[in-house]
Amino acid sequence: MNKINIIDTAQEYKNNKKNIDKAVLNVLKSGIYINGPEVKSFEDELSKFLNVKHCISCANGTDALKIALLSLDLKSGDEVIVPSFTFVSTAEVVVLLGFKPVFVDVDPRTFLIDIESIKKNITKKTRAIIPVHLFGQSADMKEIMELSKKNKLWVIEDSAQSLGSHFVFKNKIKNVEIKKFTGTIGHIGTTSFYPTKNLNCFGDGGAMFTNNNLIAKKIRLIKNHGQEKKYTYKEVGLNSRLDAIQATILRLNLKTLNQSNNKRRALAEIYNNELKSLDKILLPKYSFGIENHIFHQYTIIVKNSQNRNLLKNYLNENGVSSMVYYPKPLHKEIPYKIYNKSKLINSEVLSKKVISLPIHPLLTKKEIVWVSNLIKNFFRS
Ligand SMILES: Cc1ncc(COP(=O)(O)O)c(C=O)c1O
Repeated sequence: MNKINIIDTAQEYKNNKKNIDKAVLNVLKSGIYINGPEVKSFEDELSKFLNVKHCISCANGTDALKIALLSLDLKSGDEVIVPSFTFVSTAEVVVLLGFKPVFVDVDPRTFLIDIESIKKNITKKTRAIIPVHLFGQSADMKEIMELSKKNKLWVIEDSAQSLGSHFVFKNKIKNVEIKKFTGTIGHIGTTSFYPTKNLNCFGDGGAMFTNNNLIAKKIRLIKNHGQEKKYTYKEVGLNSRLDAIQATILRLNLKTLNQSNNKRRALAEIYNNELKSLDKILLPKYSFGIENHIFHQYTIIVKNSQNRNLLKNYLNENGVSSMVYYPKPLHKEIPYKIYNKSKLINSEVLSKKVISLPIHPLLTKKEIVWVSNLIKNFFRS
């Protein structure tokens, strides 16, 4: 068996080389590398795909969070609730902008922001919540939007890992279900197009989504130096742009996003079937059924934490890459621990027990079975 990587961007390029070469060459020939028609078309196509009024691109997912926060007119010292078990950007931007991150815990089985932990941490100074749709599935947006309404809090959904997944609103009285894409439910949604993401480009990229016209206007202003017209500044802004080459690649990848998310789901089902008999691990738990999960990661919990790194090494020795997302919860990291006084037990335990297995859409059933067999061998030996 060949080496199995956690992602394979070079192969992704090879598989679609003809289309990518043509699209990138067209951009190069056009001479329009910043803003312009490719970026505009991508924004229009993605907002149509997600059924959201505004899609505004920017340079990366971290900038998207930063610009989203800047657009909400928070004051220095205002509190922003963030999960501790996430990528650093979610909390980093809060600190950079002079706000206070309030770390909350996650659910021990879904890895998603825990609603009770949010409730316990809402104070008079809380202004916003940033739920993260971690590993490709939606946080509980019904509860979060209810808390937002009740406490007058902004909600910025960090959808860097979840583009194409849904939250399902159930109306029991009318007996109907309404599905909404993650990133389109809160006041603002943000995402990243980093090469490992489900909708990816071959460099850096990001976007913000909103249905609110005023917020959209403000975001457009901020991401372009606060300029209303050329050399007329209304705000202190920054420079954050998606370039045309990345936009043209994203337009191609958007066409196959559903297909590649379906493939990830099919691969997850194979892992589920192959690994279900192992009592030494816990398989991913779904908040709303497998059809709403896009498996940015397929993350298992190794019950005995001492086995986690041993398993990782064993897979590596057998040519299989795996990752630990995340080896330490943010509230334990040097720049962030000053903001936290309480123990966030689930985040702390998970960081010792989780391991993410390869699940990118170019993998085959045979390869997933191979990885699963290695895991079975490891635990049975
Ligand atoms: C949850 C989450 N938020 C934000 C980001 C930041 O995105 P970027 O790397 O494009 O800045 C990432 C990227 O890994 C992420 O996983």
